[in-house]
Amino acid sequence: MSASDRISEVQDEAVAAIEAADDPEALERLRIQYLGRKAELPQLLRTIPQLEPAERAAIGAAGNAARGQIERALELKEADLAAGEIAADDAIDVSLPGAPSLPVGHVHLITQTRRDIEDVFLGLGFQVAEGPEVELVEYTFDALNTDVTHPSRARTDTFYIDDDTVLRVHTSPVQVRAMIAQPPPIYVIAPGRVYRPDNDATHTPQFHQVEGLAVDEGVTLADLKGTLLAFARAIFGPDRDVLLRPHFFPFTEPSVEVDVSCFNCDAGYMRDGSRCPLCKGSGWLEVLGAGMVDPNVFDYVREYGYDPDKVTGFAFGMGVERIAMLRHGVPDLRLYFDGDLRFLRQFGAR
Ligand code: DAH
Repeated sequence: MSASDRISEVQDEAVAAIEAADDPEALERLRIQYLGRKAELPQLLRTIPQLEPAERAAIGAAGNAARGQIERALELKEADLAAGEIAADDAIDVSLPGAPSLPVGHVHLITQTRRDIEDVFLGLGFQVAEGPEVELVEYTFDALNTDVTHPSRARTDTFYIDDDTVLRVHTSPVQVRAMIAQPPPIYVIAPGRVYRPDNDATHTPQFHQVEGLAVDEGVTLADLKGTLLAFARAIFGPDRDVLLRPHFFPFTEPSVEVDVSCFNCDAGYMRDGSRCPLCKGSGWLEVLGAGMVDPNVFDYVREYGYDPDKVTGFAFGMGVERIAMLRHGVPDLRLYFDGDLRFLRQFGAR
């Protein structure tokens, strides 16, 4: 008899015996008989690595499927017997699983990634701050040194509720709210949802950011770099390095864009000499924007204890979707929000 015939014979025999079992002890004996260490099916599964490569996949799949069927039959029977016990005692044991117990789901990849990012900064001593998604124009732009002529303020680039209120385009206004709420020193991150009128493979109208703000006496760009290096290593692996490139943001001076060394290749090239598809051969992945808090931002909250002559600070902002995209090779941001379980379930095993 071939191995796969034997597998289906064992499965049929086991399932029939399980269905006929009439008490939990008998069921436990069957579990050991068919799935225990010395049982035939688990033994056979253990020999799969030694099989001919051609056979391995088919036997492995058949064996695992049979084990799954037997486990399922055991679960169903167990629930069945437990339900019978309840009926017999006429009392409800709320500690018993539902019958049949339903599989629990898992949190969305974006939630997992946001929590991972939060964990890194909580570990570095930051606290989590929050702000509203419907935000004042004043906190979104003016307090952040963003001139009325700045293109991001245009009606085509921001969802306006009315002249004074927008759906926030970034989490940066939480910097202002946090400083109003608390004098320095302050070390906060602000995770949350943001909105922009864009929609294509790399932009969705709603996405998530994590903002960071550290203000104290004597904070320097070196502190920013060290903090981001710790972040990069925690999220992308212990061998990562960071690169700060000059850039412009209205609320920081100097401003930088921050790259993390690519974790998928060696300086842009794969082991076989081909160009790395993730970093496109550059060896670097752009992950966030950052900089030293502009004195004009402190000036706006001066009365809350932020004297630009006494304190300095750094700030940064990153896209959660982008971090998850890089980490897991997600090709299109829209996949996060389509709700297709074939995509989402790949990120369930945590
Ligand atoms: N708010 C910026 C954006 O949405 C990101 C950012 C850049 C935040 C630099 C910061 C910063 O705090 O310092 O593109």
